[in-house]
Amino acid sequence: MLLMSARLDALVAQAGWGSRRTVGKLIRSAAVTVDGVICRDRARQVMETSAIAVHGRALATIPRVVLVHKSAGYSCSRDRREAPLVFDLLPEIWRSMEPAGRLDRFTTGLLIFSRDGSLLHRLIHPKRHLPKRYRVGYDGRMADDAIQRCAEGFLLEGDERPTLPAQLSLDGPGQATLILHEGRFHQVKRMCAALGAQVTSLHRDRIGALDLPGDLPIGACRPASDADIEALLTIPEEDS
Ligand code: URA
Repeated sequence: MLLMSARLDALVAQAGWGSRRTVGKLIRSAAVTVDGVICRDRARQVMETSAIAVHGRALATIPRVVLVHKSAGYSCSRDRREAPLVFDLLPEIWRSMEPAGRLDRFTTGLLIFSRDGSLLHRLIHPKRHLPKRYRVGYDGRMADDAIQRCAEGFLLEGDERPTLPAQLSLDGPGQATLILHEGRFHQVKRMCAALGAQVTSLHRDRIGALDLPGDLPIGACRPASDADIEALLTIPEEDS
């Protein structure tokens, strides 16, 4: 895990307790604890995941994994010229986290952030075949053999290898569900286009065995529980 340390006064100031100067006074007055012990040294290097409290109130720390319900219009880039960015959906103190893969600007749904490099790797590495489920709205007509072609895998223009077997179901006029086990550039859009359909809306509602939580409104984020993380890394039996 990529753990970083920072000065205690910087972390407390970042969490909204005032300027570095104000925070320095707070620390000297014994109002701040680090992992339960009073710390009067404002320059102390503290791990960002340490439990810091001010007047007994826990300071926000960086969780291992954060779940975000991405809104349409947000870019997964760090380039400010592309704002609004998905990082704007996170509290400032969490913005050093990285997203596990990317969703296009117009795509909504479940996006995972973490600073744990090995966990990010497990979420996005194609060899893990972790399923991601997309609800697709489309215009046009899917080819008659679309389900079979997805199941067998097919070559997308410009790619060197055929797609991994994917599960397509046609849910009603202009509505489909596609479960992918890899994450190529614009993959859903490109696969649908090759099958005769233009994607008009795209929503990711499951990664591994973790459904987008029903209590996570669009645009909101929250730390993942241990159960969420376990579900995220689990391949559901029906998708294996
Ligand atoms: N495939 C796409 O085309 N877009 C996304 O955002 C995700 C998967």
